[in-house]
Amino acid sequence: MDAQELREAYVNFFKERGHAYIRSASLIPENDPTVLFTTAGMHPLVPYLLGEKHPEGTRLVDFQKCVRTGDIDEVGDASHLTFFEMLGNWSLGDYFKKESIQYSFDLLQTVLKIPVDHLAVTAFAGEDGIPKDTETAELWKSHGLKDDQIFFYGRKDNWWGPAGQTGPCGPDTEIFFDDGRPKCCDACGPSCHCGKYTEIWNNVFMQYFKDADGKFSPLKQKNVDTGMGLERVLRIINGKETVYDTELFQPIIRKVEEISGKKYADDMRSFRIIADHLRAATFLLGDGVVPAKMGQGYILRRLVRRASRYMSKLGFDGVYMQQIAEIIVRDYSAAYPELKQNEKEIYEKLTAEEEKFHKTLAKGLRRFDEMLAENGDSKVLNGELVFKLYDTFGFPVELTQELAQEKGLTVDINDFNNRFKEHQEKSRAGSDQIFKGGLADHTVETTKLHTATHLLNAALRNLIDPDIRQKGSNITAERLRFDFNFDRKLTPEELKAIEKYVNDAIKADIPVVCKEMSLEDAKKSGAIGVFDSKYGQTVKAYIIGDISAELCGGPHVTHTGELQGFKIKKEESSAAGVRRIKAVVGKFD
Ligand code: SER
Repeated sequence: MDAQELREAYVNFFKERGHAYIRSASLIPENDPTVLFTTAGMHPLVPYLLGEKHPEGTRLVDFQKCVRTGDIDEVGDASHLTFFEMLGNWSLGDYFKKESIQYSFDLLQTVLKIPVDHLAVTAFAGEDGIPKDTETAELWKSHGLKDDQIFFYGRKDNWWGPAGQTGPCGPDTEIFFDDGRPKCCDACGPSCHCGKYTEIWNNVFMQYFKDADGKFSPLKQKNVDTGMGLERVLRIINGKETVYDTELFQPIIRKVEEISGKKYADDMRSFRIIADHLRAATFLLGDGVVPAKMGQGYILRRLVRRASRYMSKLGFDGVYMQQIAEIIVRDYSAAYPELKQNEKEIYEKLTAEEEKFHKTLAKGLRRFDEMLAENGDSKVLNGELVFKLYDTFGFPVELTQELAQEKGLTVDINDFNNRFKEHQEKSRAGSDQIFKGGLADHTVETTKLHTATHLLNAALRNLIDPDIRQKGSNITAERLRFDFNFDRKLTPEELKAIEKYVNDAIKADIPVVCKEMSLEDAKKSGAIGVFDSKYGQTVKAYIIGDISAELCGGPHVTHTGELQGFKIKKEESSAAGVRRIKAVVGKFD
């Protein structure tokens, strides 16, 4: 079975069981400032897991593109990936454990054809007042699994979520492929890392909500959220040794061989890093991320620059990335048509970033060697040198860390961060950027943009048309994007007036007050909000003086003055009858 057949077989299996197919959401999460990327199939479905009605019903199925960045530096081994696809099915307050396990078992048998004795499953052992999940174990037994194929684990291994800092979560049953080799030791089981067991599917019984204080409360409805890693499953059912041996990666690897003149077998790590990073970069560009100094754009930059360095390690110093991206667009567009639609932009931005880094890579590497000499006998590379590499040659600090590690050195990261902050404070654009632990911290920025979105919404309703409603909102570390119903282009004068309205509110430094109230009271108070039902009976309203009262989960700044200033960058059409504004906050002259 090839990848597209697997995607289709999974979707069809669940369609036949009453599930509606929904398309993969963007890699950029809508309205969740606590994470950079969509990390699981359930992520775009959070409002519905919390009780909002999904337009397609209570049974859903999809394949979702995901990016997880916690392990970028591990990529290069046989299994770690930054970009991956997750096949998933959901019950939104519909079926629960019995049907979920029945469906999974049937799919494993009929579609994946994995023999029962090659399966192992886990169930929640019970912890923190939440009981042991014997029901799940019994259900698996009813399908023929033996006691020694069922393992109980606690919260560390058998609990999933939330995806961000708060959200729906619950105990799960994880399904593993057992390759049949003998156990490595007495304690060997699915949580062992010897390689005997590979996790292929995770069924989460989502019954709890974790709030910002870390407290768990029962959800309004019992959901099922499942996720199956496409790459791993494809590897297993086709008997391949690693995910890189599947057809998802082989054409990319062949192309890298052709370009570099080297063989995959001679330097698998470099080939894998290039293949993984450029696959992720292509998808991120396809979803509109652009290389930047912070947030999503910073991760994209790291991926491109790291791929560039590894290509150079293979001995090729030319511009090559578009050729790789072309293979990815060709092979993945059937499943993700946005790649084909945005093809031109993907190639342009990728090549521009590649060329930018290319100009300085060789020089930077030479400078790095000189630095080693300057650094003397110390095993710690001093922050000043590391900062120079960043500032002059555009080396992400993680890249320098990796180069240093190869020479048995570490980087004085605190010193680097202090210098970085100092530099940012000095530079004009720096005042609104934050750098933490070597990674751009986007939370402060997105919080400001979130408050700016409420002010913009208020300006549109108060100045242009009281019937304007939010149709969509998306916030990155760099900008806000706000969609609203309106049937014509706004004039330059109107845009100026909107900007002035928001800037006046910022100058007035109005407190932003959060009030908890019943849904009824909130409605009576005239507060607006498109997501009102998802917060249950008690809702939070953010009130900005007499300008804005909006139901919202937050977070927001405490005073509007923190935004410093507001600028509209673009006004355009988004769909029929829907306009889109992109805007930024910060200090403007
Ligand atoms: N959310 C769960 C996971 O990511 C199941 O989809 O594993």
